[in-house]
Amino acid sequence: MPTTRRQFITQSLIGTAGLSLSPKILGQNTLTEKKAVEPLVISTWSHGIPANEAAMKILQDKGKAIDAVEAGVRVPEADPEATSVGYGGLPDRDGNVTLDACIMNEKGDCGSVAFLQHIKHPISVARKVMDETPHVMLSGEGALRFALEQGFKKEDLLTENAKQKWEAWKKEADYHPWIYDEHNHDTIGLLALDIQQDLSGACTTSGLAYKMHGRVGDSPIIGAGLFVDNEIGAATATGVGELVMKTLGSFLIVELMRQGMTPQKACQEAIARIAQRGDIKRMQVGYLAVNKAGEYGAYALRPGFEYALYHKGENKLYEADYLQR
Ligand code: GLY
Repeated sequence: MPTTRRQFITQSLIGTAGLSLSPKILGQNTLTEKKAVEPLVISTWSHGIPANEAAMKILQDKGKAIDAVEAGVRVPEADPEATSVGYGGLPDRDGNVTLDACIMNEKGDCGSVAFLQHIKHPISVARKVMDETPHVMLSGEGALRFALEQGFKKEDLLTENAKQKWEAWKKEADYHPWIYDEHNHDTIGLLALDIQQDLSGACTTSGLAYKMHGRVGDSPIIGAGLFVDNEIGAATATGVGELVMKTLGSFLIVELMRQGMTPQKACQEAIARIAQRGDIKRMQVGYLAVNKAGEYGAYALRPGFEYALYHKGENKLYEADYLQR
């Protein structure tokens, strides 16, 4: 039977883009049908390895992605050796540890805290904002007050190690907001696909070391540091937050996947958008993405961006491909 041009175009689109197309475009419910799938966890940097372990344990027990992502990122938040996240994070230029975090579930619900001090697990405060309030984001004093009302403990988050580093920095107080190697990285962004084929994500950081007091980065901004659309995919960011915010990187990646790009292509395009703006000397941004089919991607502006992938029984660290050769 001859194929009409219209049928051919439709079949080609389905054939090449498949699961990446919106069910609204296809006019069918391919993506909304639930089937048990192989769970997957992907997260930024080497602190992602223990975070993935905690997240995958929940997924293997048939838990939900939203619980997995929260449990996962709580690991580096509590680790004093992780100097870019939670307890032990490097302070701002005045010696204050200030934290940003956000979380997003398969329903598109989200919660966020920005410029939060004295609470070891900002991701769990963000989860409470999502679950217990009509709002998406709380900041500063208000976020702290809410956390204390919710039973979180007020703590000193500045470790001796972080204090010594800050005091050494103060001698010159030379501020460079660049991040380009594994010793000066930031942020854990973690994405999970559970066996129900639901996606969630979490992102948490102490932000750029020695930043101006009050500075907030991309990590608590829904669409910048993290975005989840359960029909399409999820993305998260690490690196210089200002570059991610100016291009709303995670939302962009999910929208590019909606248009048919693979997670890898979408991450590459989002990095290219940053590079097109110029002004990226010595700056690093890394993106991770996963789609509904469990395909993933990772890409960075420059070498050195590592990510941890837990899939099919293996939890391993990889170095992402990058733009600037
Ligand atoms: N990406 C984290 C920050 O810029 O604060």
